Amino acid sequence: MILLGVNIDHCATVRQARYRQAASTTGGAVEPDPVTLAVLAERAGADGITVHLREDRRHIQERDVWRLRETIATRLNFEMACTPAMVEFALKLKPESVCLVPENRTEVTTEGGLDIVGNRERVEAATDAMNAAGIVTSLFIDPDAAQIELGAQLGAPWIELHTGAYAEAYYSQRRAAELARLVAAAKLGVQSGLTVNAGHGINYVNVAEVRTIPHLHELNIGHSIISRALFTGIEEAVREMKARMNG
Ligand code: PXP
Repeated sequence: MILLGVNIDHCATVRQARYRQAASTTGGAVEPDPVTLAVLAERAGADGITVHLREDRRHIQERDVWRLRETIATRLNFEMACTPAMVEFALKLKPESVCLVPENRTEVTTEGGLDIVGNRERVEAATDAMNAAGIVTSLFIDPDAAQIELGAQLGAPWIELHTGAYAEAYYSQRRAAELARLVAAAKLGVQSGLTVNAGHGINYVNVAEVRTIPHLHELNIGHSIISRALFTGIEEAVREMKARMNG
């Protein structure tokens, strides 16, 4: 069975659109609350909750992360840039896993995988620190052999394959080639001793094909689930995605 990590960042995006200047992230009329959403997602079968505390704090705030840490019953997967400040924060937070992602202030969302070949020292330092603290490190990387092989060498136990290029190519002729890249990357990941996750741009349509990628441990899905929840509520949105992932 493929596990589902629900990324709740965009619940906070909606709150921040109106309450960025509010004195607190909760209380009064401040809504929607990502922690409440996380609890409901868990109740519907989410296997973990994912958040990305971005440097510009555009959606999730530090207080959200601490409240999640105290509240959720599944696993907290903490996406973060590979910087000393975020490593220090994660060591205090102690999530079950961290996912190292690239971060660029001008991007609308995470646009590409982390280039661990080009950032080897920083990635290795962060991975070593997490390993020593008993926190699982996942590397969010493109489905590229050099990145996967180096990821395994650096001692990270997990990778998350970036499915964004595949999702973008879904309605084009490039789709089969992008899927083949993901399949080859997943096989190489497992051969290299890694646990293979995937995420970005996965939705209720393309998940039917994404789930055919071999060896998948977990999918991290945000935008499509939060969008669907506007119509069905989060519990039904999570239940439906889980049903489509595992058939
Ligand atoms: N995985 C990672 C590492 C991400 O950065 C994101 C986007 O924040 C996701 C998964 C979820 O992507 P989406 O919102 O497109 O489902």
